[in-house]
Amino acid sequence: MKELKERNALLTGASRGLGVHIARALAKEGVNLALTARSVDALEQLREEVISHNIKAVAIPADLSDTEQVTTLEDKVEDKLGPIDILINNAGIEWATPFRNYSPQELQKMIQVNFTAPMLLTRFVLPGMLDRGRGHIVNMSSLAGKAGFPYQTPYASTKAGLVMFTNSLRMELDDTPVGVSVICPGFVAEDGMYAEMEKRAGPAPRLLKPTTPDKVASAVIKAIKKDKAEILVSALPVRPAFIIQEIFPGIKNTLNKVLGATAYAEKISDRQSE
Ligand SMILES: NC(=O)c1ccc[n+]([C@@H]2O[C@H](COP(=O)([O-])OP(=O)(O)OC[C@H]3O[C@@H](n4cnc5c(N)ncnc54)[C@H](OP(=O)(O)O)[C@@H]3O)[C@@H](O)[C@H]2O)c1
Repeated sequence: MKELKERNALLTGASRGLGVHIARALAKEGVNLALTARSVDALEQLREEVISHNIKAVAIPADLSDTEQVTTLEDKVEDKLGPIDILINNAGIEWATPFRNYSPQELQKMIQVNFTAPMLLTRFVLPGMLDRGRGHIVNMSSLAGKAGFPYQTPYASTKAGLVMFTNSLRMELDDTPVGVSVICPGFVAEDGMYAEMEKRAGPAPRLLKPTTPDKVASAVIKAIKKDKAEILVSALPVRPAFIIQEIFPGIKNTLNKVLGATAYAEKISDRQSE
C-alpha cells in the first residue's frame, strides 16, 4: 500500500511501549487510527496527541484475552472510524520462567493474547479488505520467534506462530491486493517490555545490543508501503546467524550461549512483564 494518507488503521497494544511509537509514525503518514488496549486513560491521552496531525483517531478499549471482546472489536472500529485498511497486531505479553512453572491459565492467556487474537482479528478484517481491494496486516513477532529463547518458551512459541501465520497467509494472498508482513525486533531499549525488564535485571549482553522503538515504528511503515514479507529489527545484523541455524539446527543452543542469551534469560527468569 504505497499511499497511507487517510487510510484507517486498527492498532493493538496502543497504550504504551512500542505501540505509542507506531501510532505516532502512522499519524505522521496521515493514517486515521483506532487505538486499542485495556488502559483507557493512556489510550485517550495518545488519541489527543495524535489528532494534532490532522487525522481522525478513536480510542476503543478491549481486552484481547477475552474472545468476546476480540470478536466485537472490528464492528466497534468500523462504527466509529470506518472500514479497516490496516491491521497492526502489536499487543503482546511475555513472562520469563522455567516452562514447568507456567500455570495452564498463563499458557492459555499468552497464546490467546499473542497468537489467537491476531489470527481472529485478521480473520474478521480480511473479507472487507479483499472486497474493497486494499489492505495490509502487520504482525509483531520477535527475534525470539525466529531463534527461540529459554525460559520464554511460550512467548517464543507464540511469536514463531506469528511468523508462520504471516508466511502462509502471504502465500495464500499472493494474487490479491492485501499484503501481510511480520516484524521481528530484538531487544528494544527506551520503551516497552524490554526497557521495563532492563530496569529490574540489568542490560542485555553486548552482542544482543538493543534497537530503538523508532526503528521498529519505521519498520512497520516500510513493511506496509513496500509490502515487505519480514523485517528483522536489531542493532547488529542477525540474519546470517539465522541462516547458519537453519543449515545446522544443532548449533542453536551453542550460539545462544555464546551470544550470552541463555545467561541473560536465566537472569530475567521469574521476572514478569505484562
Ligand atoms: N520491547 C521489546 O523489546 C520487544 C522486542 C520484540 C518484540 N516485541 C513485541 O512488540 C509488541 C509490543 O511490545 P512492547 O514492548 O510495547 O510491550 P509493552 O510495553 O508491555 O506493551 C504491551 C501492549 O500490549 C497491550 N496488552 C497487553 N495485554 C493485553 C490484553 N490482554 N488486551 C489488550 N491489550 C493488551 C498493553 O496494553 P494494556 O496493558 O493497556 O492492555 C500494551 O499496550 C509485543 O507484541 C512484543 O512481543 C517487543
